[in-house]
Amino acid sequence: MTPQIDTLQKSAETIDDILAWPPETLPRVAALLAAKRYWVTDLFRTLRLEYEAALDGADEPDSREAVEALMQDLPSARYVQWLHRYNQDQTWRLCEGVVADRLSAIEAALEPCDGDLGSLSTADDIRYPAYYLFDYHRQRGGIWRDAAGAAVYLLGARIVHIGRNSDFELHDQFADSIDVADPARILDIGCGFGKTTFSLKRRWPSASVEGIDLSAPCLALGRRMATERGLEIDWRQGDMELLPHEGASIDLATITMVLHEMPADAIATSFAEAARVLKPGGTLVTLENRWLGDPFRDTLLRWYSQLIDEPYSMPYRDLDIPKLAREAGFETGETRAWYMKGTSPETEADKRKWFTPWAMTVARKAA
Ligand SMILES: C[S@@+](CC[C@H](N)C(=O)[O-])C[C@H]1O[C@@H](n2cnc3c(N)ncnc32)[C@H](O)[C@@H]1O
Repeated sequence: MTPQIDTLQKSAETIDDILAWPPETLPRVAALLAAKRYWVTDLFRTLRLEYEAALDGADEPDSREAVEALMQDLPSARYVQWLHRYNQDQTWRLCEGVVADRLSAIEAALEPCDGDLGSLSTADDIRYPAYYLFDYHRQRGGIWRDAAGAAVYLLGARIVHIGRNSDFELHDQFADSIDVADPARILDIGCGFGKTTFSLKRRWPSASVEGIDLSAPCLALGRRMATERGLEIDWRQGDMELLPHEGASIDLATITMVLHEMPADAIATSFAEAARVLKPGGTLVTLENRWLGDPFRDTLLRWYSQLIDEPYSMPYRDLDIPKLAREAGFETGETRAWYMKGTSPETEADKRKWFTPWAMTVARKAA
C-alpha cells in the first residue's frame, strides 16, 4: 500500500519549504530573471539589428570564424557576453547563500525515513568518469560531492528558464510528447534530481519508473521530492556508460540535457548500453539543444556554452546523433526540432526573436 505523505515520520518542512526563496532574496531573484528576460528580448534584438547594419545588405559571411569576427566587434557584443556570465555567477552566489543558511535542514531531509516511496541505492565503489570532475556551468564544487552542491543545483534550476521553472513545465511537455504506448518499465538516464523522472511518472503512473545518475545527493533529493509529491520512483546511483541493468529489460529510456556534458566516445558507449538494456522494440528518447544553421544564432549559442563553461556542448552539436544511435545498435534513429508551447517555426523564422533550439532524438531498437 502506498503510504500517505502525512504519515511520513519527517519534519513538517518539505524540500520546497526548505528551499523556498527567503523573502529578502526575492529582489535578487527578480533582478536575475529580469536580466535574463532583457537578454532574450531587447538585447538580443539590438545585437541582431547591429549585425544587420554591419552586413549593410551583403550576404552573411560563409565561415563560422568570419561571422564570429564580425559579431565580436558589434557595440553590444561585449555587454551580451558579460551579462550572460555575470548572471550565471550571480545565480550560483545567490543559491549558495540560501543553501548555506538551510544546510542542516537540507541534510536532515535527505536522510532516509519510514514512508519513503520507491527505493534508493547508492554505489560505494562508484568511479566518476574524468570528464565529470569539472565545475559544469560554473557551479563551484559540482553537484555530486555533497547535499549542498545538489541543493544549489536544484535552486539554480528554478531560475534557469524565464517561464515557469519550479514546476518543471518543459520536462512535462517533453514527457507528453513521447510517442510510446504504455511502457511498463521506464529508465531516466542522467536523471539529476528527477525533473524528467517526475514527468514520466506523472504521464505513466502505473509504469515502474527508475532514475539513474552519478550524483548520490541529487538522487536523495529526487527521492525526497518524489515522496513529497506522492510519486513512487526508484533511484539508483550508476554510470550510464555501464548500466547495472539486465539486458532487454526496459521499454523506454530517456536522456535529457546530459549528452552535451559528455565527450563523443562516452555518448557512443552510453547509447550502446541503452540499446543493450532496452527490450526488442524499445525506445530511447533524448532532449538536447542543437545548431540552427543560422550563423548569427549559432555564434551566440557557442558564446553561451563557452561563457558558462560547457566544454563539450560545441563538439556535441557537431555530432550526428542518429548515426551514433544506429551504430550503437538501434534500428532507427531520428532527430527533429522540438518546441516548447509558445515557440514554433514561426518564432524561428523571426531572426530578431530569441528562443532555445531544442532537438529530440528518437531511436528504436528492432522488434
Ligand atoms: C544538466 S543535468 C540534467 C538532469 C536531468 N536529466 C534534467 O533534465 O534536468 C545532467 C545530469 O547528468 C548526470 N550525468 C552526467 N554524466 C553521467 C553519467 N556518465 N552517468 C550518469 N549520470 C551522468 C549528472 O550527474 C547530472 O545530474
